[in-house]
Amino acid sequence: MLPGDKSISHRYAMLAGFAEGTSRLMNFSTGEDPHSSLGCMQAMGAKVETVGRTIEVTGTAGVLAQPVGNLDCGNSGSTMRMLAGLVAAQAGLYRFVGDESLTVRPMERIRKPLEQMGARIELTEGHAPMTVRGTPLTAIDFETPIASAQVKTAVLFAGLQAKGTTSIAEQVRTRDHSEHALRAFGARLERKGDRLSIVGGQKLRAIDATVPGDMSSAAFFLCASLLFEDSNLVLDALGMNPTRAALLDVISAMGGVIKVLDVQETYGEMVGTIQVNRGKTLRGIEIAGTLAAQLIDELPVIAAIAPYTDGGVRIRDAKELRVKESDRIALVVKNLRTMGAEVTEHEDGMDIPGGQKLRGGVIDSGLDHRIAMAFSIAALRAEGETEIRGAEAASVSFPEFYTWLDELAIR
Ligand code: S3P
Repeated sequence: MLPGDKSISHRYAMLAGFAEGTSRLMNFSTGEDPHSSLGCMQAMGAKVETVGRTIEVTGTAGVLAQPVGNLDCGNSGSTMRMLAGLVAAQAGLYRFVGDESLTVRPMERIRKPLEQMGARIELTEGHAPMTVRGTPLTAIDFETPIASAQVKTAVLFAGLQAKGTTSIAEQVRTRDHSEHALRAFGARLERKGDRLSIVGGQKLRAIDATVPGDMSSAAFFLCASLLFEDSNLVLDALGMNPTRAALLDVISAMGGVIKVLDVQETYGEMVGTIQVNRGKTLRGIEIAGTLAAQLIDELPVIAAIAPYTDGGVRIRDAKELRVKESDRIALVVKNLRTMGAEVTEHEDGMDIPGGQKLRGGVIDSGLDHRIAMAFSIAALRAEGETEIRGAEAASVSFPEFYTWLDELAIR
């Protein structure tokens, strides 16, 4: 069974820590990032216990303690941005820190809407370390200028505690796990068209939930299966939330044959079993506009298999890739060139011609989990050996990745 979805695990960790009662979270992500969220919630008064593969979180019933030291978010932008919204209306002083990569990632995007609500947030040149001095908040109507589920979530978490009804409109529909998770924990939330609204002052209650398998982790094996003519990949308990499943359409467009064998719903999240086989050819694709935003975490691995396609891959409107755990456009281009591929870099994407052969080389992961895993997939079809420097970064989202890869490759 694929480890639990990273995005959903973050939200369950935070809301379970904020709710009243003890939540039992099955198949919680094994990645370091969601464990940073758990660690922060623990530092703010939640009790966290691991019982086999279940994480039990006893929440703070809406009153977070002031942590003794810094809140360490590690490599996790989700932890820092979403928690900023959760603590902004609380009574304490919260100082967030992260690793080298997180310390240069943009935080202004959450400061702006939260400050409109009355929050007091200090950044260091637009980045972490970040200090939030909790204070009562007032609802706002916010039109988000960037497609970011983390920003949306920060505003919703603050809105949950603000005076009045907070609304947020997004032009590009980003992943909606926060909406489902808030409802799961008992909050009322309305969506009208592209506008979401949440009434302040609501209380949350604990849940028992199983986290669906992570589509963004499955992406590496789904893309690997396109590289081998006789591949047959079956993944069960996979999260298939429509705001996260654009990759399945892309795989079909590239010539993969996907069968959905079973779908169910749990707390608003779709979970299913899929089977993927490669078709006769591996076609190229163009990814731009809304699709680029929806596939933002999967673009590195799509780019990594692009040289093996017939028609090549063109990616645009993906400038956000430059401010992820690394500059993912620069690193993908650099590593593809290391493997002998021709590639043209653009400010917001890249052009990778198809019909190319790759050779093994020394890959620089930039300590970015998705770069390490994406190039492990590219290496499967390359001539000669590939060494991934900083391969251990995979643990940020998927510690079992290399074990899975080993097992799947032999079968
Ligand atoms: C995430 C949202 C996306 C994504 C990240 C996880 C989330 O980031 O890239 O890996 O869980 O909400 P942005 O909100 O910055 O687009």
